[in-house]
Amino acid sequence: MARERLVAGIDIGTTKTCAILAEQGRSGRLQLIAAGVAPSRGMKKGLVVSLEETSASVQAAVEQCERIAGKRITSAVVSVAGNHIESQNTRGVTTLPNHGHDVTNADLQRALDSARAVSVPPNREIIHVVPRSYVLDGLEGIKNPIGMAGQRLEAEAHIITGAVGSLHNLIKAVRQTGLEIDDLVLQPLASAEAVLTQEERELGGVLVDIGGGTTDVAVFLDGSVWHTSVLPVGGMSVSNDIAICLRTPLAHAEELKVTYGHTDPAVVVDLPPLDVPTFERGHAQPVSRDYLAQIIQARMEEILGMVGNEIRRSGYSGLLGAGVVLTGGVSEQAGIRELSESVLDLPVRLGEPQGLDRLDDRLSGPAFSTAVGLALWAEHNGTTARATTNGNGSFHVPAAAGKAGRWLRSFLP
Ligand SMILES: Nc1ncnc2c1ncn2[C@@H]1O[C@H](COP(=O)(O)OP(=O)(O)OP(=O)(O)O)[C@@H](O)[C@H]1O
Ligand SMILES: [Mg+2]
Repeated sequence: MARERLVAGIDIGTTKTCAILAEQGRSGRLQLIAAGVAPSRGMKKGLVVSLEETSASVQAAVEQCERIAGKRITSAVVSVAGNHIESQNTRGVTTLPNHGHDVTNADLQRALDSARAVSVPPNREIIHVVPRSYVLDGLEGIKNPIGMAGQRLEAEAHIITGAVGSLHNLIKAVRQTGLEIDDLVLQPLASAEAVLTQEERELGGVLVDIGGGTTDVAVFLDGSVWHTSVLPVGGMSVSNDIAICLRTPLAHAEELKVTYGHTDPAVVVDLPPLDVPTFERGHAQPVSRDYLAQIIQARMEEILGMVGNEIRRSGYSGLLGAGVVLTGGVSEQAGIRELSESVLDLPVRLGEPQGLDRLDDRLSGPAFSTAVGLALWAEHNGTTARATTNGNGSFHVPAAAGKAGRWLRSFLP
């Protein structure tokens, strides 16, 4: 029977849930097979606030993806966010037995296990231990020490933790649909997979994914991640502000923002005013374009200011030669690049997902960076999806379960 290497990801965002199925093509590059997108109803600021509604969104996105693919997905990597996420850099040490030998994979694992042994409070769980670099007998900055000789191996790692309750709710919402979770992946790490170039990671670059309810930040330097953070703000705050200031329904505020919005009032000041329906009288009121832009600008400046604080908190703000790459749905807001450059005082480019062949127009926008990044992340980490062909029985049920973190297994019955 033909063996295919499939990867599946589910990005559960605050505004939309996206399921994605991809396979490794003959060229060795990952190719999209199918994707499904459904509105998210049970999420707020990156957190599950309704198990049933989140489950229903996951189910709808996965079913759509399955219908297009003609395959059933039974497991996937799933994105995680929320402001319960915390990160820190640690160092682990191991000695190489028998007065030193060539470093093996098992030695790396021991050093990383020791890095993982930082004190984590009982209400938190480790989501990722990302190896950054190794130190062998005092020689720093080694990316891959396997095969090198030495006696004392240190691993530098970036550790990401989340609150047990929030993680548990996410896992439960997904598993209620009957899907297994191969791994949880932090949203900024997934987006970075799809958007940041290797050069940007080496030179010093910041991934900023501004979605509906969260703003994800990941700072990269020397090829590895140094700082990650999830801020509980996004494009929905902008739409809320517009709805309140203009006394107009939220759906209308959202449409005004996307269709006529700008982050710079001066650019739109001479354009004719808009007719905006109000709650009060039911008839339209004229609203100037620069007033709409002022509302957007004020909230975006606040969000970008918080991003700037995170970049400073990383301690590397002076070393970011490649600047900022902005993605997520909000990166489509007119004028956002210029405003980001002035608030962050760094060069900013807009990033769309790359690295997945056969991406159609629907998925190529910046709102899908996390979903595409999940597939790439699964591919790079050897996580294989479990899927079956519809009707024709199982064709591929490989090793994926072993990849799930030990903490994840501890949640499973
Ligand atoms: N052209 C546009 N101009 C302004 N805002 C836009 C535009 N297109 C999309 N947005 C905003 O992007 C947001 C949705 O982005 P995205 O799909 O990346 O979020 P999400 O992944 O569902 O949520 P999150 O990652 O925050 O949990 C919405 O607030 C939407 O209003
Ligand atoms: Mg998102």
